[in-house]
Amino acid sequence: MPVDVILGLQWGDEGKGKIVDLLSKDYPIIARFQGGPNAGHTIIIKGKKFVLRQIPSGVIRDKVINVIGNGVVLDPIVLKQEIENLEANGIELKSRLLISRKANLILPTHRLLDKFYESRSDESKIGSTLKGIGPAYQDKTGRFGVRIGEICMPDFDKHYQSVKELHLKLLKALGCEETIDDKEWFEALEYVKKLKLIDAEYYINEALKEGKNILAEGAQGTLLDIDFGTYPYVTSSNTITASACIGLGIAPGQIRTVYGVFKAYITRVGGGPFPTELFDATGDYICETGHEFGSVTGRKRRCGWLDLEALNYAIMINGVNKLIMMKADVLNELETINICTGYTSSGAEKHFSGLSFGETIHPVYKELEGWKCSLAEVNNASDFPQKLQEYIKFIESHSEVKIAVVSTGPERDESVFI
Ligand code: GDP
Ligand code: IMO
Ligand code: MG
Repeated sequence: MPVDVILGLQWGDEGKGKIVDLLSKDYPIIARFQGGPNAGHTIIIKGKKFVLRQIPSGVIRDKVINVIGNGVVLDPIVLKQEIENLEANGIELKSRLLISRKANLILPTHRLLDKFYESRSDESKIGSTLKGIGPAYQDKTGRFGVRIGEICMPDFDKHYQSVKELHLKLLKALGCEETIDDKEWFEALEYVKKLKLIDAEYYINEALKEGKNILAEGAQGTLLDIDFGTYPYVTSSNTITASACIGLGIAPGQIRTVYGVFKAYITRVGGGPFPTELFDATGDYICETGHEFGSVTGRKRRCGWLDLEALNYAIMINGVNKLIMMKADVLNELETINICTGYTSSGAEKHFSGLSFGETIHPVYKELEGWKCSLAEVNNASDFPQKLQEYIKFIESHSEVKIAVVSTGPERDESVFI
């Protein structure tokens, strides 16, 4: 049976966690394919909030198997904390958590390197979450990364020490004298060693053969993709559909539906271009109403109008066949809502890709009327206010993809299927 993919179409934090949890009732297996503890996927059920960093968002449903794929970079300290937090909330998961032994580890020195690279105060600062993501992926492609499956090998310690030494030499040469204490990291590693470390590519392909459906969960968003995002203001992994194949070991032909998640507006955390960013009272209003503060770092998210140029780019790169619009409720009170339909420069049309080459562009807006009412009691799309229906139609006609779900609040059941 097929693999369906859920991923973000903007600069992350679109609400992927909520949607993976919602849809996971129809999938026996949820598999995370990239990113690491830079992610924060929020699930809220009857007021109880869970923020998942590395564990897939299917974990709240007690029969779902959760796989951490080879494409993920893992911090054992964060993983241990995540598991303990979930267990403290009555969620038993160790028997349902499978980890690819090919996943690369985030070492304490990766976090230090991340911090050091980001210590510059100029405009080139990426605004990293400082979780060691960039340095860990660098070592993976540099072919000296440490993989989690190695902890069972006799020369694990030798490999770890040699990489650590290399990092410390590099840091020293760059003028960083900080030392590291890796005691906690090793303790966490002992804990992780007892979890189910497997060859996840076999597990997933066998499950497909047995007729099971798999939901692949992406982290970050397409506009943060290492190749197609607003480089260099991106994360260090591919965040797109193709990455589900690489990060889990599945063939492209196995993928059926690609669900693209986006907010009814757009946000970004950290540096980088943002054509529709709002610097006025409306931006502040959206930030406050949408509680736009990072789930991982607590940083204020920059807010702006929905950008269809960027959305269409993301739909194209990912082959999205179903859209999911989040946080429609945040716009409830607005008199008018702008949507960016494209970019221009000196009268010429410009594309999203130009942003990563410093091109100056101007967003072109279409102003739509707001719906000016609460969506709290709406359970059927036919009961949506007329102006929200027009907003949905406008997006669908400009993207040529149907919106399958509109999310009207953070709770699992505040979701209207269309
Ligand atoms: P993710 O990283 O894509 O999973 O998204 P985050 O969890 O980082 O950020 C999404 C935030 O929006 C979380 O605080 C969610 O609880 C919240 N949220 C999700 N859907 C909705 C919605 O439809 N309306 C509102 N008001 N909040 C939502
Ligand atoms: P989820 O999965 C939003 C951003 C950081 C920074 C850039 C690089 O919750 O949507 P990194 O730590 O990866 O080196 O940071 O990417 N970023 C995210 N922004 N949501 C995320 O994840 C993010 N993960 C990384 O803010 O600008
Ligand atoms: Mg998030």
